Amino acid sequence: MKIMEKITEECKEAVQNAVKQLYKTKETNAIPRVETNIGQNRKADASCSIAFQLSRELKKSPVEIAEEIAKNIKPSETIEKVSALAGFVNFTFSQKYYQIALNENQKEDIKKSGKETEKTKKEKTKQKVIIEYSCPNVGKPLHIGHIRGTIFGHALKKIREQDGDHVVSFNYLGDSGSQVAKLLLALEIYKNLPVIKTEKDLLAYYVKINAEIEQSEELQKRQREILEAIENGDKKIQASLDKVRKLSITAFDNSYDLLGVKFDEVIGESAFIQDGRKVVQEAIEKKIAFKDKGGEIVAKLEPELPNTILTRSNGTTLYLTRDLALADYKFSKYKPSESVNITGSEQNTHFRQVYAILQKLGRNYNNRHIGFGLLTFEGKKLATREGKVILLADIIEEAKQEAKEQIMQREPSLKGKELEERSLAIGLAALKFAVLKVSQEKNIVFNFKQMTSFEGDTGAYLQYSLVRCKSILHKASEENALEEKNIGKSKKQKHEEQYTFNSEEKELLLLLSAFPVVVHNASKSLAPHILCDYLLKTAAAFSKFYSLHSVLNAEDEKTKTQRLEIVKATANVLENGLNLLGITTLEKM
Ligand code: ARG
Repeated sequence: MKIMEKITEECKEAVQNAVKQLYKTKETNAIPRVETNIGQNRKADASCSIAFQLSRELKKSPVEIAEEIAKNIKPSETIEKVSALAGFVNFTFSQKYYQIALNENQKEDIKKSGKETEKTKKEKTKQKVIIEYSCPNVGKPLHIGHIRGTIFGHALKKIREQDGDHVVSFNYLGDSGSQVAKLLLALEIYKNLPVIKTEKDLLAYYVKINAEIEQSEELQKRQREILEAIENGDKKIQASLDKVRKLSITAFDNSYDLLGVKFDEVIGESAFIQDGRKVVQEAIEKKIAFKDKGGEIVAKLEPELPNTILTRSNGTTLYLTRDLALADYKFSKYKPSESVNITGSEQNTHFRQVYAILQKLGRNYNNRHIGFGLLTFEGKKLATREGKVILLADIIEEAKQEAKEQIMQREPSLKGKELEERSLAIGLAALKFAVLKVSQEKNIVFNFKQMTSFEGDTGAYLQYSLVRCKSILHKASEENALEEKNIGKSKKQKHEEQYTFNSEEKELLLLLSAFPVVVHNASKSLAPHILCDYLLKTAAAFSKFYSLHSVLNAEDEKTKTQRLEIVKATANVLENGLNLLGITTLEKM
């Protein structure tokens, strides 16, 4: 267990014991909430609000209760002071706490350590979770809705893994719609498909065949036949379906490579048509669904949710029907403790319906859906191309160009490959952070200039903060090497007496010690923005510390050593945090 978790437990226990000793109340065995105050204007390091809870039963004011509790708790090795303020029991951590926090974050292995609570140790086995994201449609480029999900899903996967879960990343391709039938038709009439490498090629090709089909009734008829053949699992069609699926995946992979995204399983909707039909049969037998006048099979969900069609009158399945079979597939194959679907918020009702039907069918699945708000663009070229698809490649290019402008202003001498690489890294960081810092239900308006800025709440600002830490460490090690050469031995010596951390150092160290807790919260609440917010606070606390206190020119050797360790700990945390968001870190900026 890491120090912040330990101390939170210690505070809780102390409060609980005090309550037990002081009062006879129902709340005696309730576990009090203790919150550590990271990155805020702090009056204390941690606070407990139990007095407000007890007030009514004890018929006493919270102020009085908090004072009694605080007086009853003795300081310890890591808790320096317990006081009461406005009804809160406040804890001030000791110098020892900060020393431990510092040592803890020196270790390289903070990368590997998931949150090791006593509970997970006892359980031993990792929790398995399926995270489904991206899910584009075969034959069409990733659209904006997919892009937000792709970035988000990837970060969530990394965060959950760091927190100790076993994650299966799952990509569910739409491969049974009319656009797929069109591509299959193209395969028939053109015989040979052109080379398709990127999403742009795919789009050009789709536009071409689409125009031809619109002109010809005969082709339209054939398209319908193909669609039926897909529905019926026709063997001949399967082979062609495979081919267009592969073509699309090659194009998608280009974008995924750029984003650094990988999937453990990629499977198309068409694989769930037949099983979808079986689920519909089961639904009819279980009287969850009925045949309506028009011949459609309808699932009964009213009044909680709108009823929904499971099969059309001609027997064909729908998007929703296939999702029922997909859930069965996932839960029987992986037996996850949790399964997450990530899409745009326009699918919120869809997933509520899917989960409700599964529940009525008696499936005991733990499903969660994340539905995003819209992603739109402010000003600039991308927004003016009305009606046209906005490609991920275009967005990345735009972010890269904007990043390049910022870099060239700061470092006009930078050229060639290095400039290109750095622009891309900063552009991608900008894009990812702009998506991840916003909580899921909110809309996002992209402004490329703001996003790529080195100041403010951006990916570039975090990358830059890390570069600053690294350059301090680099300078220190150069100086150290020089000194060693001159004196012939390292000046480094063990400092026996304890170092006294100042308030900026404490603020920063408190944040650093909160890293595993923050990762755990972000993981369990499926909310990478919690981590984003934390990293911004950490970078700000570092900046404050560094602007007020010299590191390399610290007043004495002992102070310098400690401060260098603080810088190193900050670098470790920033690096790990950015990594979890899927953001590349840089050596120079
Ligand atoms: N392909 C769908 C779309 O583009 C998203 C699929 C989401 N996942 C699911 N299990 N329905 O809208």
